[in-house]
Amino acid sequence: MSQPRYTLTAMALHWGQAILIVWLLWLGWTMTDLPKGAERSAAYGLHKSLGLLALLLVGLRLAWRARHPAPPAIGQGREAFLAKRVHGGLYVFLLLAPLAGYLASAFTPYAVKFFGIELPKLFPADESLNALFKQLHLIVVWGGAGLIALHLLGALKHVFLRDGTLRRMLPGRRDQ
Ligand code: HEM
Repeated sequence: MSQPRYTLTAMALHWGQAILIVWLLWLGWTMTDLPKGAERSAAYGLHKSLGLLALLLVGLRLAWRARHPAPPAIGQGREAFLAKRVHGGLYVFLLLAPLAGYLASAFTPYAVKFFGIELPKLFPADESLNALFKQLHLIVVWGGAGLIALHLLGALKHVFLRDGTLRRMLPGRRDQ
């Protein structure tokens, strides 16, 4: 069945961000258990850099999306309504998770680095704000992981229904 598709730019942003987010969740989950030392510092540094890249990408994605609406949804009713809410929630997660992570790091005495480049220090060190944004980061991140699971379940259902929904987000011939 041929369906209206997402553009190649939308696909690249979607899959690029998907890989980045899975990497960040895994890094975040494992790095906090590492013993203090060089490996832990490197993992934290990489996590912060990739997280800032994710923030940059969601900005690009939202700006691009504002000018290029998604193709019309295939399903209708309750399911389409739920999918729309999950997509909205995912955008909130994509924006809030890195922002809260950045703010948690920005309220420590150390400068945040983006792949080795020191960012300007915008805030003075503040322990309680650091703890607040750390907590917010964890809540948003694990709430987002739940939304990702729902999103994957929805995609899986469409694969079983063979209604061409997943193909809309995959490159390939139009008439496949
Ligand atoms: C979409 C982007 C991001 C995702 C998905 C993400 C994910 C995670 C996860 C899963 C954890 C572990 C949570 C836990 O211990 O249960 C974590 C921790 C952390 N993240 Fe992120 N993160 C993102 C962006 C950022 C950014 C941009 C920064 C800073 C520039 C950052 C700084 C941190 C720090 C410092 C911790 C450790 C908190 C602690 O010590 O308890 N994260 N992140």
